[in-house]
Amino acid sequence: MNTSSLPRVAVLATGGTIAGQAGDSSKTAGYKAGVVGVDKLLDAVHALGSVARIHAEQIASIDSKDMSAALWTQLARRIDELLAQDDIDGVVVTHGTDTLEETAYLLHLTVKSAKPVVLTAAMRPSTALSADGPLNLLNAVTVAASKDAAGKGVLVAFNNQIHSARDVTKTSTYAVDAFRSPETGLLGFVQDGRVEFQRTVVRAHTVASEFAVADRWPMVEIVASYADVSRVTVDALVAAGVRGIVVAGTGNGSMHAVLTQALADAVKQGVAVVRASRVGSGHVMRNGAANDDALGTVSAGTLNPYKARVLLMLAVASNVQDVQRVFDVY
Ligand code: SIN
Repeated sequence: MNTSSLPRVAVLATGGTIAGQAGDSSKTAGYKAGVVGVDKLLDAVHALGSVARIHAEQIASIDSKDMSAALWTQLARRIDELLAQDDIDGVVVTHGTDTLEETAYLLHLTVKSAKPVVLTAAMRPSTALSADGPLNLLNAVTVAASKDAAGKGVLVAFNNQIHSARDVTKTSTYAVDAFRSPETGLLGFVQDGRVEFQRTVVRAHTVASEFAVADRWPMVEIVASYADVSRVTVDALVAAGVRGIVVAGTGNGSMHAVLTQALADAVKQGVAVVRASRVGSGHVMRNGAANDDALGTVSAGTLNPYKARVLLMLAVASNVQDVQRVFDVY
């Protein structure tokens, strides 16, 4: 086979269970994430050679629970550099499943290219019987090599499904079918070399985004509303200089009266406060379960608290004044 005409895809490895190693192949928990190098991951998938020419880089070797904003900046800048090259057609990022949705959304809002960027991961370590990483990696490269994937923002290829970075979230602690896009559904499928899109993304992203990664990130934190919650956490965050707070509210972003008062006080101190929901699906309406106009708060729409935090960090870093606008646009 003449491979010189195949698309060229950069695979950037960051760690995760896809690069995990256990002492025993029957183990799918209790392993160490992020220890197997990218070359070994690629060697395990011989079929890659007929899908794309691969350029591989090891960006990090972490368990994604330890992801940092500094690593986001490094990753986003490297992706932009690679995609600016004429000889790179797409990028795949291998990642842990735990914070994949946050990294994917951050890249969706900051990468400055319409070329495909696809994240993938695994629920079982590379040493497991029936490891899911090799097929997920093959599928991710297949999507990144597909012209149909261009212009759709950052994508997540997992368990034969293609999701938008904006909507996807991890919904299982153990199943290989671990990701869903709760309110909107998946974008398409990838199976046996075929990429099929069923719908597209209408919210702004990548080349249409006003955001860029930062060298220094503002302090933006998440608090939850629950029975008997106190205002101690909010007051401590304000005292520590927090610039933005996302509330994982009950139901439609409702908040305990004690928390509502603490957050109204925080808004008066100049803190940007966004109401999201801890429910896991549905949306949070402006002036729905709380009076945003009166409180000076913002509603997160369908973004879960973790993604709302990503957007709020970018908005605060860019000195956005009308924070509700960006939650309505992105
Ligand atoms: C991680 O997120 O790095 C560990 C868990 C996983 O990848 O499934």
